[in-house]
Amino acid sequence: MREIFERHESEVRGYCRTWPAVFDKAKNARQTDVDGRSYVDFFAGAGVLNFGHNPEPLKRALVEYLEADGVAHSLDTYTRAKARFIERFVTTILEPRGLDYRLQFTGPTGTNAVEAALKLARKITGRAGVVSFTNGFHGMTLGALAITGNGLHRAAAGVSLDHVTRVPFDGYLGPGVDTLAALRRQLGDPSSGLTPPAAFVVETVQAEGGVNVARPEWLRAVEALAREHGALFVVDDIQVGCGRTGRYFSFEDLGLDPDVVVLAKGIGGYGLPLAMLLIKPARDAWRPGEHTGTFRGQCLSMIAGAEALRYFEDPAFLPSVLAKGRRADEALSALVDRHESLSLRSKGMIHGIDFGDGALAARACAEAFARGLIIATCGPGGRVLKVMAPLTIEDDTLDEGLAILVDAIEATLAR
Ligand SMILES: Cc1ncc(COP(=O)(O)O)c(C=O)c1O
Repeated sequence: MREIFERHESEVRGYCRTWPAVFDKAKNARQTDVDGRSYVDFFAGAGVLNFGHNPEPLKRALVEYLEADGVAHSLDTYTRAKARFIERFVTTILEPRGLDYRLQFTGPTGTNAVEAALKLARKITGRAGVVSFTNGFHGMTLGALAITGNGLHRAAAGVSLDHVTRVPFDGYLGPGVDTLAALRRQLGDPSSGLTPPAAFVVETVQAEGGVNVARPEWLRAVEALAREHGALFVVDDIQVGCGRTGRYFSFEDLGLDPDVVVLAKGIGGYGLPLAMLLIKPARDAWRPGEHTGTFRGQCLSMIAGAEALRYFEDPAFLPSVLAKGRRADEALSALVDRHESLSLRSKGMIHGIDFGDGALAARACAEAFARGLIIATCGPGGRVLKVMAPLTIEDDTLDEGLAILVDAIEATLAR
């Protein structure tokens, strides 16, 4: 069956080269291919499937909505589906955290929401420049790509990617180095050649960038610098928001107060596309229709997304994410302790095993797949294996996946 893809689909396809199977069915943290082979999923749709594949309560809500001929597509007209999502997002997520944000639904990809955040910051400040960070990943459209670090993706732009000042992320220059020092000095010097930016856009944990976890004090210093120079402080929580770090927002326990939060991936709940900005009310400077998009009114995503928010109504859910994260920490720390060439970074249920070598990490990824584990690489040159199971993975499936992973890495390093 693979030849249908190889013959007709563009060469641009990527993940199917890492996992050359034809997938058919999926449930929670397992996928089955057309030959009936079962795989443990440590990828979770790049952070989309936080609640696993085909979660029953979400499926039921979707089927009910479809059976009742609920509106499926709505641009930005008012619908019962959107009202349900907004109401639950406000009461389950924002109010209990004392947060006050307006919701802007954008075209349903992360990159579109990032574009909207950039445009809003530029509109508010009247400035063009943006500060972003080494190894940051924000999407494939030109504005988001300009603030993304990855050289392969940038080279495909075909035009210059401008209006960005790139600053070393926390840890990039070695542990504890103040990577903001030069920027701070330049922004304070009217003759440095650098003018104040419209925004600082940061991930608290760079997921695609290699699972780089910023220190809270560094992130607070980024926010302080943004405030000092009248720039917006934007947190891109597309991959590590929505419960991944053991909190709903990755920045909740860090003492940060973003002007704009960018969300996508997991918020549609079922793998259905949805993306939005959370905007501080005083920063909601849009004029009606100024940033538009045909697929902003994804009612099916809103129905599934509203149902997914029930996970966060259960006080045991986020502690269970932290507990599973620790379970993975234990298995992976023991592995890393046995091999000096490996290092481990993690927060909640995202772990990165750094091989320091892309070819080796790719080999470990292939060894894992051959043993029935779906996992991908990230980071510079693909040198980091990223462990990102659904947050709902059962403990025994998690253990099974970890055992496969450890075995695959041991086999790779023994060669
Ligand atoms: C932090 C972050 N921002 C933005 C994006 C882009 O999202 P999308 O692929 O939905 O456009 C991603 C995708 O991996 C991401 O991880």
